[in-house]
Order: sequence, then structure tokens, then C-alpha cells
Amino acid sequence: MKVLVAGGAGYIGSTVASACLDRGITPVVLDDLSTGREEFTRGRLFYRGDIADGALLDRVFDDHPDLAAAVHLAARIVVPESVADPLGYYENNVGRTLDLLGHLARRGCHRVVFSSSASIYRPGDDLTVDEDSALEPTSPYARTKAMAEQVLQDVAAATPVRAMSLRYFNPVGADPELRTGQQVANGSHVMGRLIEAHRAGTPFVLAGVDWPTRDGTGIRDYVHVWDLARAHVEALLRFDQVVTAAQPYQVVNLGTGRGTTVRELAEAFREVVDGRLEIVDGPRRPGDQVGSYTRSRRAEQLLGWSTELSVVDGARHSLEWDRLRPARLGRS
Ligand SMILES: NC(=O)c1ccc[n+]([C@@H]2O[C@H](COP(=O)([O-])OP(=O)(O)OC[C@H]3O[C@@H](n4cnc5c(N)ncnc54)[C@H](O)[C@@H]3O)[C@@H](O)[C@H]2O)c1
Repeated sequence: MKVLVAGGAGYIGSTVASACLDRGITPVVLDDLSTGREEFTRGRLFYRGDIADGALLDRVFDDHPDLAAAVHLAARIVVPESVADPLGYYENNVGRTLDLLGHLARRGCHRVVFSSSASIYRPGDDLTVDEDSALEPTSPYARTKAMAEQVLQDVAAATPVRAMSLRYFNPVGADPELRTGQQVANGSHVMGRLIEAHRAGTPFVLAGVDWPTRDGTGIRDYVHVWDLARAHVEALLRFDQVVTAAQPYQVVNLGTGRGTTVRELAEAFREVVDGRLEIVDGPRRPGDQVGSYTRSRRAEQLLGWSTELSVVDGARHSLEWDRLRPARLGRS
């Protein structure tokens, strides 16, 4: 099987491409390298350009008429940036998704796996969500994901295109074989802050210890990026069983089903660095949320998928990749 991986030079997309290769699926990567890295495409079929570029999509399909499906991960993903530049985010994440869908439909590629986000949910009082939970995206970024999902649902209802939206929770870690990982040292995410604190020998500050959770810190559903990537492979292999004429649009949560608090994640990280990390309490930051985790078993039922790697694995692989990254990608 051959699949288009739009956004396949990015953090998650390059891992999805690796997981495909490991299972005998050939990825054809399409990426404009706006945040993705060319290094992640070496030795892979790669087209540089925009998902909205019809002439480029024609070239891809002329070269690979056997493309059976598309995985669409191409998006801008930084929440504060989306607040500052909503037009740019709606343009790229929604507008160009419309163009891509048009090109896929035109070229007869009717299976679409879409990268969505659990950030579109309104968490219930028990901080869990499933696929039927209410949606309440709170940032322009999250709204672009909810809107793109709505478009996919409407298109799937009216045309031969069928789609599966995978709602990721909080990806951590790197490819266990360290082929790829986060492109930049990401100090805005908790794992990035943990790595920074460890490297600098400064304390890791817990941002808020008065949230309504078991230890007062926020709760997330940290899911290893390799587990996420494996889920895409299962989604591709089972697509026709799961997304049918009767049900042409499916939504599946991808999380561990276990909430991990920020303090627990920090403890897991401390275990990996043999205790060389000080963890201290700190105040909430503006815009922070208590968080949520999935209670759904749909991924297991429909895709036969559940997570295999732990937050300790996630911390270890993140750290290993972080040490390797300057040699692979240069200083960033
Ligand atoms: N990282 C997360 O925490 C997270 C959580 C939930 C969902 N997601 C979704 O997963 C997907 C991948 O995210 P990521 O973390 O790998 O981010 P990333 O920035 O590493 O990857 C996005 C990729 O898309 C490419 N791209 C962006 N716009 C494009 C365009 N118009 N044409 C061609 N290529 C384009 C970028 O160059 C990049 O390689 C995104 O759709 C994101 O919304 C990410």
C-alpha cells in the first residue's frame, strides 16, 4: 500500500511515515517545510510544497497513481501564534484543507485520515471525555481543527470521500529508533521545560498546584508519539472496515485512557535522569487549563489499538532525541 503523508516532515508526520515503512506501507511525503525538516524526509519519497498546490498534487498523483489514502497532518500548531494570527491559521489549516480535499477528490483518493486534537473538547466535571463529549475549542488553533473536522464530515456525507479524524491527546517522546523527534527544543511544552530545567540544573516549576486533581497539578493524557504513529497504521489498514458507506465519517480519540498529572510526569522524568531534577510548586499561568483524558475504548474496538509505551518511555525517548538533535539537525 502507498499513502500520501501531508505534513510528513513534521514531528508526528515523520514518525507516522516511519511506522508505515516498518509495516510495509510506502509513505509519499508532501510538506512545505514551514516547520518540517528535510532531514526527516531523506531516503523517502518527498515532494516539497503546499497542500493547496493543485499542480504539485497532480504531479504527485501522476507519479504515484496507486496512492490508496491520504494522512493529513499538515497544519500550523502553535496556540499563542494562532491567537496573534487567526487569519493565517484559518487560511492554512482550514482554507488549504479545503483545497487539499478538492485535489484528493479530483484524483480519486477517497480515504482521508485527519490529525485532529483533543483540545477541541469541553472537559466534563470528572475531567474525562469521549468522542461524544461536547466540543468547545478555546483557541483559534483548536477552532481550525474543529472546523476542518466539520468540513470532512460534510464532504464525507455528500461525496465518495470518506474520512477518519484522529483526536490526539498530548504527544510526548520520539521515535524509539531515534530516526526523528521534535524539530526544535520546545520550551513551551511541559516535556521541553523539563528537559531545559534538567540541562540548566534549575528547578522545574509546577504551573499551578491548586487544580481540582489528585495532586493539585493539571492533568493530561500523555501519549507516546510512537503509539500515535502505530494508530495511523492501524487506521490505514482497517480503513474500509471502519469507515463505510453507512458511516463515511468516524472520530477516534487517541490517548492512553489514564490521566497523568504534571507532577507525575515530572516524577517520571526525574526517574529517567536518576533524580537529577528539582521539582518545585509554582503559580498557575494565564490561559492554563486543568486538562482532560480520554475514557473512550473506541480506538481499541475499531482499530485494535492501545498504547504500549509509558510516560517513562516518553521521557526517556524525548531526552535521548534531545541529545542527538544538534548532530542531526544543527543547533536550533
Ligand atoms: N503536537 C501536538 O501536540 C498535537 C496535538 C494534537 C494534534 N496535533 C496535530 O498533528 C499534526 C502534526 O503536528 P506536529 O506536532 O507534527 O506539528 P509539526 O509542525 O511538526 O508538523 C506539521 C507539518 O506540516 C507542514 N505544513 C504546515 N502547513 C503546510 C502546508 N500548507 N502545506 C504543506 N505542509 C505544511 C509543516 O512543515 C510540518 O512539517 C497537526 O495537524 C496538528 O494539528 C498535534
